[in-house]
Amino acid sequence: MSRLEGQVALITGAASGIGFATALRFAREGATVVGLDLAESAGGEWKQVEDAAPAARFHVADVRDADAQNAVVASTLEECGAVDILVTAAGIANGGPVHLITPEDWQHVQDVNLKGTFLSAKAVLPTMLERKRGNIVTIASVEGIEGAEGGSTYNASKGGVILLTKNMAMDYGRMGIRVNCVCPGFIDTPLFRSVVGNDAFPAEVRERIKTQHKLGRFGKPEEIAGAALFLASDDASFVTGVALPVDGGFTAGHGVGVVEMMGLGG
Ligand SMILES: NC(=O)c1ccc[n+]([C@@H]2O[C@H](COP(=O)([O-])OP(=O)(O)OC[C@H]3O[C@@H](n4cnc5c(N)ncnc54)[C@H](O)[C@@H]3O)[C@@H](O)[C@H]2O)c1
Repeated sequence: MSRLEGQVALITGAASGIGFATALRFAREGATVVGLDLAESAGGEWKQVEDAAPAARFHVADVRDADAQNAVVASTLEECGAVDILVTAAGIANGGPVHLITPEDWQHVQDVNLKGTFLSAKAVLPTMLERKRGNIVTIASVEGIEGAEGGSTYNASKGGVILLTKNMAMDYGRMGIRVNCVCPGFIDTPLFRSVVGNDAFPAEVRERIKTQHKLGRFGKPEEIAGAALFLASDDASFVTGVALPVDGGFTAGHGVGVVEMMGLGG
């Protein structure tokens, strides 16, 4: 249980959901975890990370703010000596059909999800290039791989994150830096609960989305943390430029009811 022993991991969006689960898992795997989030960590949860990794740190910062991200990296270098791993889990949901989206809403989502990822990578790359060593794991979505009804703004931002990831993998591979992306299906987090998991969301649509996950359930944040751990660890030493769906089969193909017809609907 110490696949990240001695490594320093900076994780954005670390106060909640996937980012928090990743921070906790990485801490338990021996990493010194540095969390960054717009929000304070809720409910004293960060204490669990500190219990696993006493040198863990948490910074309140906005991923849209280049200076704030640079300051977090500078203080991490000063206090922890390095940034070996970056995981970019900060993100927001939003969407709707194009004719109803305001340019301001469009821009807000791109700024957090896509530009925020760009700025996080930009903040850590100078030290990674200097050391010829580094590992970046971005968090996109199945909705960056394929379209979704009403998903335009969010999907565009996540599609951008996937291609940004692949381009960075190409640019920095020979400098000892691997860059990969996890594409989660629908994962039970506060973000999920504020939209699809919300009581106001039509239950039959939620059920249809659930069924599109061929394992017949929504995912857990820990299952995304496990994939991020694989990509960040030496087990993935020959993996770069990958957009890995961790989606219970959501992107495997379209379910049309034949499984149920064959008596395999569970
Ligand atoms: N939950 C899902 O179903 C799902 C599916 C696919 C992809 N994702 C992606 O996974 C990532 C994490 O999502 P989650 O479900 O854990 O959501 P979450 O809301 O539980 O956590 C996201 C965190 O990002 C932080 N954040 C938001 N804007 C920020 C900003 N400007 N600067 C710094 N921090 C900011 C929030 O404060 C929050 O703590 C997001 O990028 C999301 O798009 C989630």
